[in-house]
Amino acid sequence: MKNEILLATNNAHKLEEVQAWILANRLPWKIIGLNEAGINIDVEENAPDFKGNAWLKVRAIQEFWKGNIIADDSGFCVEALNGKPGVLSARYAGEHGNHQNNIAKVLDEMKNEVNRKSYFITVLAGVFNQIEFTIEGRVEGHVARQLQGWGGFGYDPIFIPSGNSRSFAEMHMEEKNQLSHRAKAFENWITWINQNKF
Ligand code: IMP
Repeated sequence: MKNEILLATNNAHKLEEVQAWILANRLPWKIIGLNEAGINIDVEENAPDFKGNAWLKVRAIQEFWKGNIIADDSGFCVEALNGKPGVLSARYAGEHGNHQNNIAKVLDEMKNEVNRKSYFITVLAGVFNQIEFTIEGRVEGHVARQLQGWGGFGYDPIFIPSGNSRSFAEMHMEEKNQLSHRAKAFENWITWINQNKF
């Protein structure tokens, strides 16, 4: 338990992405998921912001796990839509995880909009060596006028990061992982760990 960090997810894909691509074995600790830790909880993410949702997960897990914990909450925010989809990103059109409908709703709401500024954000919250942290990562860009590419997931086909003409869905995973909100948040977390000399 001492050499482990519990990542608040049941999603094997996310675990692998963080372990292999984002952290790329740069830390001497093993990242494990809730399954491996034998924790079976489903936290309702009903806080008004990303930070609140990330902390809801941490607090729920602390009932079962006294070691290191890291929880993340991410989403897509569009300036002209007052930050929406925001915390509703996964279920913007109603049904949880229906990315196609979520994208269609954003494109429809944005069809006459000139200001297409948007960003992805990840907030990480957790406890490391008994010290609590909240750290974020963002990638700025704009909303495409139509679907661009088929790769990735979620809003990837309509998000074009600043300085690019291709969407996240048109990039290889390695390329997206150099730019992404998740990668930046974890990068900031590694910096925090190094600064604290854990
Ligand atoms: P989660 O907090 O990582 O589960 O993300 C919540 C929702 O935000 C997802 O269901 C997606 O709709 C959206 N989202 C988060 N990260 C990404 C990304 O990297 N690409 C596209 N959509 C994302």
